[in-house]
Amino acid sequence: MKITTAEIITSAVSAKQYPNDRSPEIALAGRSNVGKSSFINKMIQRKNLVRTSSKPGKTQTLNFYKINDLFYFVDVPGYGYAKVSKKEREKWGGMMEEYFQTRETLKAAILITDIRHEPTKDDMQMYGYLKYFELPVIIVGTKLDKIPKGKRVKHLNQTIHTLQVESTDIVIPFSAETGEGKADVWSILKKYI
Ligand code: GTP
Ligand code: MG
Repeated sequence: MKITTAEIITSAVSAKQYPNDRSPEIALAGRSNVGKSSFINKMIQRKNLVRTSSKPGKTQTLNFYKINDLFYFVDVPGYGYAKVSKKEREKWGGMMEEYFQTRETLKAAILITDIRHEPTKDDMQMYGYLKYFELPVIIVGTKLDKIPKGKRVKHLNQTIHTLQVESTDIVIPFSAETGEGKADVWSILKKYI
């Protein structure tokens, strides 16, 4: 997809702050520091529109990015970071639940996993959570640049197997460094926007 405009519209912590123009939304999900924000930047060819960090916990709110005046990427805070207080975790849970449970314009979710590693228990739980809301889930196995080419198939199969990916969902290997997988993700996303 040719990107003509990409801008942050709002950062929200509750439903009354969500945009209300009814454009379709694609939400990100994934562990802290896995590369959700980097994924969005690569997809829209903006180096720093979305803030990224080598430290986990950079994204703290639901951030709505309007792309081509057509749809939103919704960046969300990650899960699974050990150094988070119980109170913070509860706040995160409430914010996510309100969004996933009520958002009618949400068309699909992109679950980002690290293709180098077997998906974690948290990843498995998140996939189940998204399927509970009957969302189509596109699984993006990122950091593909960090594994040798000969091991790609093995890592891809491990992701599919451990997550028990439903036959209607797809896993796309991706790298925010090289842009591999980008065209594949766009071709799937076109169905929803
Ligand atoms: P939180 O907002 O904390 O949940 O993290 P996030 O999932 O948004 O991760 P972010 O995009 O900030 O990236 C975390 C780190 O991983 C950064 O140092 C990125 O440069 C790095 N990173 C992300 N994607 C890739 C990738 O495809 N390849 C490589 N080599 N590094 C990546
Ligand atoms: Mg982030």
